[in-house]
Amino acid sequence: MKNLTLLGATGSIGDSTLAVVALHPDKFNIFALSANQNWQKMQLLCEKFTPKVVVMADALAAQKLAQVVDSKIEVLHGEEALCAIASATETELVMAAIVGASGMKSSLAAANAGKQLLLANKESLVLAGNLLMQAATANNAQIIPVDSEHSAIFQCLQSGKSGLRKIQLTASGGPFLWATTDSLATVTPEQACAHPNWSMGRKISVDSATMMNKGLEVIEAHYLFGLAAANIEVVVHPQSIVHSSVYYADGSVLSQLGNPDMRSAIAYALSYPHRIDSGVAALDLAQNSPLEFYPPDLHKFRCLQLAFDALEQGGSAMGTLSAANEVAVEYFLNNKIGFLDIAKVLQRSLDKANHHKINSLEDAIANDKAARKTALDAIQYYA
Ligand SMILES: NC(=O)c1ccc[n+]([C@@H]2O[C@H](COP(=O)([O-])OP(=O)(O)OC[C@H]3O[C@@H](n4cnc5c(N)ncnc54)[C@H](OP(=O)(O)O)[C@@H]3O)[C@@H](O)[C@H]2O)c1
Repeated sequence: MKNLTLLGATGSIGDSTLAVVALHPDKFNIFALSANQNWQKMQLLCEKFTPKVVVMADALAAQKLAQVVDSKIEVLHGEEALCAIASATETELVMAAIVGASGMKSSLAAANAGKQLLLANKESLVLAGNLLMQAATANNAQIIPVDSEHSAIFQCLQSGKSGLRKIQLTASGGPFLWATTDSLATVTPEQACAHPNWSMGRKISVDSATMMNKGLEVIEAHYLFGLAAANIEVVVHPQSIVHSSVYYADGSVLSQLGNPDMRSAIAYALSYPHRIDSGVAALDLAQNSPLEFYPPDLHKFRCLQLAFDALEQGGSAMGTLSAANEVAVEYFLNNKIGFLDIAKVLQRSLDKANHHKINSLEDAIANDKAARKTALDAIQYYA
């Protein structure tokens, strides 16, 4: 039996994680859960999974929750408490499924405490990749990717990196794969969030529509697998059946395939190095043919190109891009800027930023703060 801390329990990855956990009451016990404000959903989760501790990032939400849950459940709030449940001695597994930069400190806390860190929060790596990887190495923490593409690469690399030429991340292309660039000027948040294959939170859904998500994943792969940008490729695969591929010197290509359902990658991360039932139906290849692959259109999906540029630039550029993206996506979701303005805000933020090395958590936080301000200034041009 392993104890699990689930950060971001009320979100899409949280739902999928708890669905897998519920299939295996003999293997996993929920030690702690966290969310931001959604105390009503957290109340239901507490009734079903009876965690020992719950942390709400928001103090008022914690207060409301404490009034309605069993008094044996300790209800805390704030970032320090989040880091405490991520590093508690009682837990072995930490699922990092908070959305955005808010997940960075708790991911780092889990790595510093030597936990098995199941990493969905890609922004942690984009903002502070060196710090997170160094913390994991120094403290024998194991980072197991949860993003389906990185889980696929991780699975394909189980026999090592000997003869590895490149990795190839697949991208569905999102809801606007076949749309003209001009038509994207008027798309609504609802259209952008209607992903054809995956059911996800709103921020990552917009990131998929702009292909910024793939850009963040390129940076994530750079840190997770220690590869240069030149060895990381993106291919558009609208069916989302091939989750990613690894190319070797002998001409062999290993891919991992499955139905597009995050429970597969989550079950693998939870049970690594073993495999358990995830509740996902077996893949029927004949029912899914043909499988198509295309090069990405880097002119239409400028955010992807910007991510490659930021990775080449290195240092704070990646955090700047991610922070500016969070701000721009929020403004888009609130109908304050257009879909095509997201890339413009990112470009302007990168152009205006003062790029430097990230040597500490404080550097990463300061850079994040500065980038948000630059992005807000940039947004004034388009709002
Ligand atoms: N969804 C997917 O299929 C998928 C696939 C691969 C990777 N990922 C990555 O996994 C992460 C989570 O994605 P998601 O789609 O599950 O997001 P989501 O559905 O929006 O859920 C986000 C979770 O984070 C919590 N949260 C939000 N702001 C917070 C804050 N300031 N402090 C603490 N907690 C906060 C939310 O709590 P409330 O409910 O209270 O707001 C919720 O529990 C993202 O980094 C995403 O890129 C997601």
